[in-house]
Amino acid sequence: MSRRLLVTGGAGFIGSNFVHHWLKVYPNDRVVVLDALTYAGNLRNLQSVEEQENFRFVEGNICDKPGTACAKGERTLITELLQVENIDTIVHFAAESHVDRSILGPGAFVETNVVGTFTLLDAFRLHWEGKGQPMDYRFLHVSTDEVYGSLSPTDPAFTETTPYAPNSPYSASKAGSDHLVRAYHHTYKLPTIITNCSNNYGPYQFPEKLIPLMCINALMGKPLPVYGDGKNVRDWLYVGDHCQALDVVIHSGKPGETYNIGGNNEVENINLVQMLCQFMNELAPKLPVHPSEQLITFVKDRLGHDRRYAIDATKIKTQLGWTPSVTIAEGLRLTVEWYLTHRDWWEPLLSEEYQAYYRKVYA
Ligand code: NAD
Ligand code: TYD
Repeated sequence: MSRRLLVTGGAGFIGSNFVHHWLKVYPNDRVVVLDALTYAGNLRNLQSVEEQENFRFVEGNICDKPGTACAKGERTLITELLQVENIDTIVHFAAESHVDRSILGPGAFVETNVVGTFTLLDAFRLHWEGKGQPMDYRFLHVSTDEVYGSLSPTDPAFTETTPYAPNSPYSASKAGSDHLVRAYHHTYKLPTIITNCSNNYGPYQFPEKLIPLMCINALMGKPLPVYGDGKNVRDWLYVGDHCQALDVVIHSGKPGETYNIGGNNEVENINLVQMLCQFMNELAPKLPVHPSEQLITFVKDRLGHDRRYAIDATKIKTQLGWTPSVTIAEGLRLTVEWYLTHRDWWEPLLSEEYQAYYRKVYA
């Protein structure tokens, strides 16, 4: 079956990688991106596909008339798009996604992640019911391992049955959206699937996140700010592996199920930054400060900083046959090479808004 996808947040980091993946692997499918182009959305991420006939970009907000219009059956941008494009699959990436921003201003996280997800879900439910409830329709909700809270060094990794215990406004808002998606399956039998993945990295990641921030700061000779003692652990997943996992889940995942997606790459932040510095020293032709390890600076810890995340991805491996293929060393090398060769992509992102944000977090 060829599919007609609505990809929300497709101008962001993972969403745009997913769009490239999908159009390459399924050239007969239709891909419509809905994105509000917040600070994290960037049309340049989609430049190489914008002329393709089976691709369309629509600027719009998933919070389009929250809660009322869809329920009354009025036509909104989203209901219109679902109908006109005859969408059968939603891949829902759109979100406010950065923990530090959620600490500075949680309101936008509740609005987009909770209310926006609700609005989209309800519009899709009405669309699906109007089509006679086809069971091959899908609503794939892309979520995070952060909903499970924080692990101690000896705890077993998160499984799909680990109780939710979100600690930041970001993870709490994602947890809220996960619960709504679950409820729409349970109550209306809407064919939804939730994926909870670990930290992604790779091309097109906005420079507020750890890996691109360190790459870019090293290239500019600026301090590399490591929070707290640098011993927090994240389980790094190369974005290409994540897109492959989502592909498998869309085609073979079971409605109503949750799948954890991880990279099998648990690394302490300080070790990760040191690895990045080694790749920088090796690959960057002229670093302002060489070796770049000299730039590592321990800074004040993040409020409520989760100590460790780790994903047990046994379920997706045994039930759907997916495992990650990129090691952390391979993925970091690819990522450093990408940021080195795409200065024209990241330089414009270091805007006045970004500088103001940076001063607030790293003051
Ligand atoms: P991102 O911040 O790079 O991109 C988010 C995109 O959503 C942007 O293009 C933005 O313009 C768009 N958007 C934001 N608010 C919107 C709204 N109200 N309406 C429409 N579009 C809106 O995020 P990302 O890193 O690509 O993450 C994508 C998804 O994956 C998110 O749901 C996030 O919670 C989840 N996730 C990310 C990671 C990670 O490491 N990046 C890990 C686990 C889960
Ligand atoms: P981040 O990329 O923000 O992802 P998340 O908070 O969703 O895991 O941060 C990854 C880890 O790196 C996290 O433990 C916080 C830490 N970190 C720093 O030490 N310095 C930084 O400048 C940033 C952005 C993050």
